[in-house]
Amino acid sequence: MCGIVGYIGDKDAFPILIKGLHRLEYRGYDSAGVALLNNKGELHIFKTKGKVNNLEKYCSDKDVSGNIGIAHTRWATHGEPSDINAHPHYSQSKDIALIHNGIIENYLSLKQFLKDKGYIFKSETDTEVLVQLIEYVKKEHKLSLYDAVQRALSQVIGAYAIGVIERQNPNVLIAARKGSPLIIGVGEGEYFLGSDASPIIEYTNKVVYVGDEEVVRMEKDREMEIRNLSDSVIVPEITELQMDLSEIEKGGYPHFMLKEIFEQPRALSLCMNGRVHEELKEIKLSGIIDHIDRFRNARRILISACGTSWHAGLIGKYLFEQFCRIPVEVEVASEFRYRNPVIFPNDVMIAISQSGETADTLAAIELAKSKGAFIYGVCNVVGSSIARATDTGTYTHAGPEIGVASTKAFTTQVAVLAMMVFAIGRELGTVKQDEYEKLVTELAFIKNKIEEILALKDSIESMSKVFTYAKNFIYLGRGFNYPVAMEGALKLKEISYIHAEGYPAAEMKHGPIALIDEEMPIVVIAPKFAMYDKILSNVQEVKARNGRIISIVTKGDTQIKALSDFVIEIPETIECLSPLLTIIPLQMLSYYVAVAKGRNVDQPRNLAKSVTVE
Ligand code: AGP
Ligand code: GLU
Repeated sequence: MCGIVGYIGDKDAFPILIKGLHRLEYRGYDSAGVALLNNKGELHIFKTKGKVNNLEKYCSDKDVSGNIGIAHTRWATHGEPSDINAHPHYSQSKDIALIHNGIIENYLSLKQFLKDKGYIFKSETDTEVLVQLIEYVKKEHKLSLYDAVQRALSQVIGAYAIGVIERQNPNVLIAARKGSPLIIGVGEGEYFLGSDASPIIEYTNKVVYVGDEEVVRMEKDREMEIRNLSDSVIVPEITELQMDLSEIEKGGYPHFMLKEIFEQPRALSLCMNGRVHEELKEIKLSGIIDHIDRFRNARRILISACGTSWHAGLIGKYLFEQFCRIPVEVEVASEFRYRNPVIFPNDVMIAISQSGETADTLAAIELAKSKGAFIYGVCNVVGSSIARATDTGTYTHAGPEIGVASTKAFTTQVAVLAMMVFAIGRELGTVKQDEYEKLVTELAFIKNKIEEILALKDSIESMSKVFTYAKNFIYLGRGFNYPVAMEGALKLKEISYIHAEGYPAAEMKHGPIALIDEEMPIVVIAPKFAMYDKILSNVQEVKARNGRIISIVTKGDTQIKALSDFVIEIPETIECLSPLLTIIPLQMLSYYVAVAKGRNVDQPRNLAKSVTVE
């Protein structure tokens, strides 16, 4: 959600900024803009509604010179997507330009205050209030830009990552953050700003993660300075990124989503590397080894997450309760944080997030923390806000996920939860040694079974074309595969815009059965486990009403196959790990339906990759 890029140094800023915006496109946005300070002392802003390509076209006959600049992709929260509401925004005198990701919650009272002082506003955004406030504070107290930003921000309630430049100060770039993500790349005498590392990694792997309420001053050929809002000096901590440029490029695939679906065997290897020891038949997770007593003494586990990560959390509940016998509550973070939940100091919260920046999940963590709960993070993005807010955790190490629809993040989240559960279960004695060894071995080799399913690409693609007519889909599953049904439905609606619902199969007759007719596709996840006969009856109920059945079954199945219009066969596995296999054809189905419908698969409408506002 929203992208921030900035540059100060000797290079031409514009190409760096535009390339950076392209790299951040995956986050979701509706307009784009850039501000540049050139060596004639002019501060230009160019911005347009729509894609970064529009902005490039718009700029083709403009003066885009300059070695310092800021750029932004906006995901509108206050005011419709339009040229005027796009960022950067000028201050009243047009001397200052600012980009902002987040929400200024007290913008109305600040706006009124500034209007009373004679400030005129051009846009409907909360952001414009901030740039005007900085100018007001600067003039009123005769401050430098750095001091003015610091002082203005102390009056702000809300979330922000900002980049600010000033016409009279062509060698200085100011940035600050609270809540929204912001990273600084440190080059040779030059600095880069990014909402994540993707706009930076091409130039330097040295980065500084800006902390909450910190304001940074960057000047060409000088050390950066950081102060927080209480005016303490912060020593920048430089981290080396282990990311490779090829990881954020498409590598021959038409879309990032397809690349990420096919990358899952590798992502799972990376995720289990050094953790699952198949020869020793053992799992070692340092987060668990170091904190096993927190789990041993846990009265309960709370799982908090949003979207796909929440679906992984639901599978986590089935796993924890079956193998560790610890009660688990799973709740979407936005509900948890606002309903005054009961939290005990000996609760363990597991927060799951691909991006590590989801505002609601972060707030749920803060709430649980304030009540003394122990917080365990399952994040993909290293150094992200959630990863840093937790007491400990396990990274999923899936590599950058660029497609808005989460795929490899989900399977690696489920794998991490399974590793945690098996390791804890053995420590608690709730998983016996022979069962433990079986589970570890199956987990270690499950990636080979995923390869087998990926090889069904062509038949899943041709089947998908049949369903482009559909307006609705129902997904049914039971037990461990009920959350998979919900995840399959989410994938389809996100990228194809076909309405889809995931249900526990037996719940169908309590309502959704009314929707079934000969047009309605019903996806049934029915591998051969204990509940097979029950789900077979559910399939018969659908058949009796002429629904079109697409079934996911275990190789060699005959009964459900006989009732189905389309069948996808998956290899045999252990029930608790079956979501790692059953989700794969569902991801492929949504991808190919969306492509056949001509949708923008990697950047579906209205969606953001990382939801940094509540
Ligand atoms: C997944 O396909 C979605 N785009 C979305 O539901 C996502 O899972 C959710 O916003 C949570 O994101 P996070 O994992 O980065 O916290
Ligand atoms: N709240 C700001 C706006 O609506 C910033 C949105 C964003 O993060 O892109 O303009």
